[in-house]
Amino acid sequence: MVQTETSVKVARHPLVQQLLTRIRDYQTPTGEFRQKALQLSKFLVYEAMSELSTREVGVATPVGAAKGIALTDYLILAPVLRAGLILAEAAQELMPSARIYHVGLRRDEATLQAISYYAKLPDSLPPDSRVYVLDPMLATGGSAVAAISLFTNLNVETIHLVSFVAAPEGIKRVHEKFPQVRITTASIDDHLNEHGYIVPGLGDAGDRIFGT
Ligand code: PRP
Ligand code: URA
Repeated sequence: MVQTETSVKVARHPLVQQLLTRIRDYQTPTGEFRQKALQLSKFLVYEAMSELSTREVGVATPVGAAKGIALTDYLILAPVLRAGLILAEAAQELMPSARIYHVGLRRDEATLQAISYYAKLPDSLPPDSRVYVLDPMLATGGSAVAAISLFTNLNVETIHLVSFVAAPEGIKRVHEKFPQVRITTASIDDHLNEHGYIVPGLGDAGDRIFGT
């Protein structure tokens, strides 16, 4: 794990990078793409969760007493539809008790603005909430900023963003607005093209995950 600046972590583990390479390949078919994307999601979520808050607890084993820990955060997963569902599937397996708030956003391909079509959040959240915004692609950052805003508007202070690939433009936009957000990604790519796609990226994540 390489920390490029205080709040961006790039997972450089060979298993992560090998999975990323397979899903970047335009010839990787849908079934393999989804399978590899799910594995990659598990590693990235696992890494992003290394900062979970804990408290010490005691535990009785069959042969004695041991010291252990319990997790203390009020954990929330916020997958950005559609592509974020793959990260949510992985995160749910790791943290079955986490609450899940789906965030429906689609990017207008002409203006590149994020358009909200679904958000059902409570009126308030506990002060110890820790939110994981899950979206494989951080491109212009419009979708990420819109998703994060839903939770900062509810006074949530601890927010993580997990992506497969991040463009420098998206990281900058998120951190200009929300410097406290921790980003975990498998790669910081080169740039965005004229259509707002990440270069080299992996193409349209939603289409490749769902075979559409
Ligand atoms: C993609 C991707 C992100 C967004 C990133 O979603 O999954 O949510 O674009 O772009 P941005 O950083 O420029 O906002 P898309 O709108 O294509 O929806 P989909 O997942 O339903 O295909
Ligand atoms: N959304 C994607 O799915 N891919 C990109 O490269 C940019 C936005």
